Amino acid sequence: MKILLLRGRLLSFHREPQGLDDDGSYRYIEDGGLLIENGLIRASGDFPDVLQAAPADVSVVDHRPHLIMPGFIDTHIHFPQMQVVGSYAGSLLEWLNTYTFIEEQRFAEPAHSARIAIKFFDELIRHGTTTAVAYCSVHKVSADMFFAESLRRNMRMIGGKVMMDRNAPEGLRDTPQSGYDDTRQVIADWHGKGRNHVAISPRFAITSTPEQMEMSGVLAREFPDLHIQTHLSENVDEVRYACELFPEAKDYTDIYMRYGLLGPKSLFGHCIHLSDREADAMSESGSIAVFCPTSNLFLGSGLFGLKRLSGRERSVRISVATDIGGGTSYSMLRTLDEAYKVLQLQGERMTPFESFYRMTLGNALALGLEDKIGTLEVGTDADLVVLDGAATPAMALKMEVVKTLAEELFLMQTMGDDRTIAETYVAGRAVKSGLG
Ligand code: GUN
Ligand code: ZN
Repeated sequence: MKILLLRGRLLSFHREPQGLDDDGSYRYIEDGGLLIENGLIRASGDFPDVLQAAPADVSVVDHRPHLIMPGFIDTHIHFPQMQVVGSYAGSLLEWLNTYTFIEEQRFAEPAHSARIAIKFFDELIRHGTTTAVAYCSVHKVSADMFFAESLRRNMRMIGGKVMMDRNAPEGLRDTPQSGYDDTRQVIADWHGKGRNHVAISPRFAITSTPEQMEMSGVLAREFPDLHIQTHLSENVDEVRYACELFPEAKDYTDIYMRYGLLGPKSLFGHCIHLSDREADAMSESGSIAVFCPTSNLFLGSGLFGLKRLSGRERSVRISVATDIGGGTSYSMLRTLDEAYKVLQLQGERMTPFESFYRMTLGNALALGLEDKIGTLEVGTDADLVVLDGAATPAMALKMEVVKTLAEELFLMQTMGDDRTIAETYVAGRAVKSGLG
């Protein structure tokens, strides 16, 4: 593979920014160079210095005046819901039963799973997302097609065969044993192959019997290095129903706790209506609350209390995500724009630096993958986005009056979408421009 030297403005975070003036939280290089070899970042710094140290036959790609950042990370997305996006429903349970559980049944068909897998990765790349944590459907074949496509593209992806054995149509139910066996097979076939990671994926407490929750806990104990993904406290009717189904549990979070599913590798989608006790259980276990603003607004689920969770004595770990197809955009820029508005409605703010931190290093830290993705550090994967803050006429006009990096980031977040992504690199290869 040829050695590449990307030239452009470089931005990467070291830690969570503590306000607009916290310039120690990131590194910004106006004329930067990023040397890429064998899919990894080999050097980064001022362009003339990196050029001087590079081999004589290096290929230089000049992205100036664009901004080069680590690829975006989406920590909660449903691969079988590409054709569910924009379904007209009053609330979560109606949306699931009316559209989602119908659509996901189509993924029993290998050809459909394979077709949508291609579309899925195309869409992520188009929006600058280089790593995602995805739910497949209940069908093992959907996970096989997902991971095969991810491997073909050499992407760092986390995915899981969903386990669900009740409160869903027959075509969407496994059993405690088959869910366990299929998950083990998916792990054996795909985990660690290329850059694939498998996640243990009980959909949520409503669609798993106590026996299946038990089996999920067995998998969690057998494979402690794997991520776990599920949904928690998204909607008030969902919370009530989940608690009715597990009357011995103290609350919704306690259901997962009882089956050994809380912990630093566990991603809980939504977490909107948690009590203080539940928030404490989340923080004590190091579990991650996944903020999905476009979904929470679209389904009318509620406003995520970021300050309430992260501002506790012991902060709850937080990540951000699109939650397609309850969510309405594949774009992490659109997602953080809606996050900003959700916080505004609660008298809270998120600085543009914090937003871009969360799309990159923040989400990498939540996944425990910060040594691989989420920064421009030497030795990490060369998964990158190239951002154009003047991508549309309206943005270009506004850019005329933008004076600071913070203003530029805020403009990209507020008005940006897939058009803002000038290029996406996966393991050092430019992949967006090839999509057509
Ligand atoms: N809860 C259980 N399944 C789902 C899903 O597919 N989407 C959302 N938003 N919430 C869920
Ligand atoms: Zn979800």
